[in-house]
Amino acid sequence: PIILTQTKFMHHDHLKYPFEERGLQFGDGIYEVIRIYQGEYYLFEEHVDRLYRSAEAIKLTLPFSKEELKDLLLELINRNKMKKDGKLYLQATRGSAPRDHIFPKDVLPNIYGYIQELPRNVNHLNNGVKAITERDTRWENCYIKSLNLLPNVLAKQEASENGCYEAILHKDGKVTECSSSNVYLVKNGKIFTHPATNNILHGCVRMAVERFAKDLNIDFIEDAFSLEEIANADELFLSSSTSEILPIIQVDKTIISDGKPGKVTRMLQAAYEQDAK
Ligand code: PDD
Repeated sequence: PIILTQTKFMHHDHLKYPFEERGLQFGDGIYEVIRIYQGEYYLFEEHVDRLYRSAEAIKLTLPFSKEELKDLLLELINRNKMKKDGKLYLQATRGSAPRDHIFPKDVLPNIYGYIQELPRNVNHLNNGVKAITERDTRWENCYIKSLNLLPNVLAKQEASENGCYEAILHKDGKVTECSSSNVYLVKNGKIFTHPATNNILHGCVRMAVERFAKDLNIDFIEDAFSLEEIANADELFLSSSTSEILPIIQVDKTIISDGKPGKVTRMLQAAYEQDAK
């Protein structure tokens, strides 16, 4: 496989990092995951825009314009002759320098991007997944797609050890999002989700869900729901670039509605499929 490093392409075996690398030592960097369908990026502009917002938030200057980055990423697809469903992982760190919390001077960011095949999980999409609930112990800048994912990793591991797909995170009694996805509750035909504040990642699929809801004439209400409301939800679903729109059929011991994916979720999944074509 060919990967992108800085603004060049190379075989992945040739990528080497010094041990003093700020992404490795401080998590001092940002990333994006972009879905690929049949060799084409989905929600491309949204992801590139968010990467620049994350970079700005951590005072990192990227060595290319948005247009140049998009050209590089398109070339990455071509060089790998990627024609299938997959994903791009792209990260940018503050670079390699002797370990010091203070930003190094005159050091270029370390950037790499690679693509991998990722088939759609038809079983999850059709049948839904289970989730646990966990306290959201993350910081107050969750809108930055930062490399510091330890709370997310721990929450998702807990979910996995309990036979579940995701961990629904809650802060002060309100549901924020999941460990690596956004989450929504449907009640009386309306969609409820945490507002796009600093406490959640502003998901690119979340933006698409809002757009689909508008097209379908379904109310999309940015008002966080509580843990208690989950028990009486008509439907629950999550969204992310890798998972798409997935029904959640059980939360902890509570079966959602009749334990089957709901009508609104199905409509949004259909809209997604149409949009991603
Ligand atoms: N995660 N919230 C969190 C905490 C996330 O990590 C993600 C994505 C999302 C959904 O964002 P989007 O719709 O833009 O994919 C929400 C990616 C897929 C990951 O870390 O692998």
